[in-house]
Amino acid sequence: MGRLDGKIAVVTAAAGGIAGASARRFAAEGASVLVCDIDLEGAERTVADITAAGGTARARHCDVADPDSAEAAVDAAMDAFGAIHVLMNGAAVREPVANVVDLPLADWEHAMRVNLTGIFLMCKYAIPRIVAAGGGSVINVASQLGSVVVPNRPAYVTSKAATIQLSKSMALDFAEDNVRVNSLSPGATETGRLLAHYQTMEAVRRALVPLHPIGRLGQPEDLADAALFLASDESAFVTGHDLIVDGGYTAV
Ligand SMILES: NC(=O)c1ccc[n+]([C@@H]2O[C@H](COP(=O)([O-])OP(=O)(O)OC[C@H]3O[C@@H](n4cnc5c(N)ncnc54)[C@H](O)[C@@H]3O)[C@@H](O)[C@H]2O)c1
Repeated sequence: MGRLDGKIAVVTAAAGGIAGASARRFAAEGASVLVCDIDLEGAERTVADITAAGGTARARHCDVADPDSAEAAVDAAMDAFGAIHVLMNGAAVREPVANVVDLPLADWEHAMRVNLTGIFLMCKYAIPRIVAAGGGSVINVASQLGSVVVPNRPAYVTSKAATIQLSKSMALDFAEDNVRVNSLSPGATETGRLLAHYQTMEAVRRALVPLHPIGRLGQPEDLADAALFLASDESAFVTGHDLIVDGGYTAV
């Protein structure tokens, strides 16, 4: 028996590392998954992995920053599977590394639009469906950098701190509807995202492993395990929480 048997999940950014691993994990535990991403080919690769393993999934092009696209993705999940119980929001852009003086306004606004407003939009359209299904779980991917900061990432760290607060806000507003809302904050995790700032994963590890007391970087599967906990009924009493999965980064 799977830990998500009978559940229907919508996962954004699921062509990517962390949300892709989570979509595969959800499906392996019995969920039917709508695999959403702006990268449709990548979403189709995630679906191919899921179906090859015997799971159920559909791919969907979705730009979470576009209200029409977000709403259409929610409608597509309803058309394909008839309900929504789990929403995982994983999208974030790779914005330029620059302080406020040097960061172009367009990059600030784009990061806020995708990282934060994208969550607002997906929740706006999906939460009524989760309520109609009798309740469920929303998981918003934030970051350890929502709690602590590094230099020259003002848009990213601000969008992630706001994601944690937005999650708590929605947790309060929808608790009586049995909709739990939590954020999930990874430490540095070995995905393509880290290669935006370093040439190779080896260079990433040299730079970032020393900041993680556990002595390694996260793997997407580490985050998928935590997302599964938040998605499943095992976390039935957990809402308004920021689950930090960072190998001790923020404990220092
Ligand atoms: N990898 C890390 O070290 C790390 C650390 C902390 C937090 N995070 C967070 O984890 C989440 C997933 O990151 P990842 O490391 O798996 O990155 P990734 O680059 O592997 O995946 C990100 C995915 O987001 C998609 N995406 C971008 N814009 C989109 C949009 N407008 N609509 C829909 N999809 C869009 C991309 O196409 C990509 O598939 C992000 O929110 C990121 O901020 C990652």
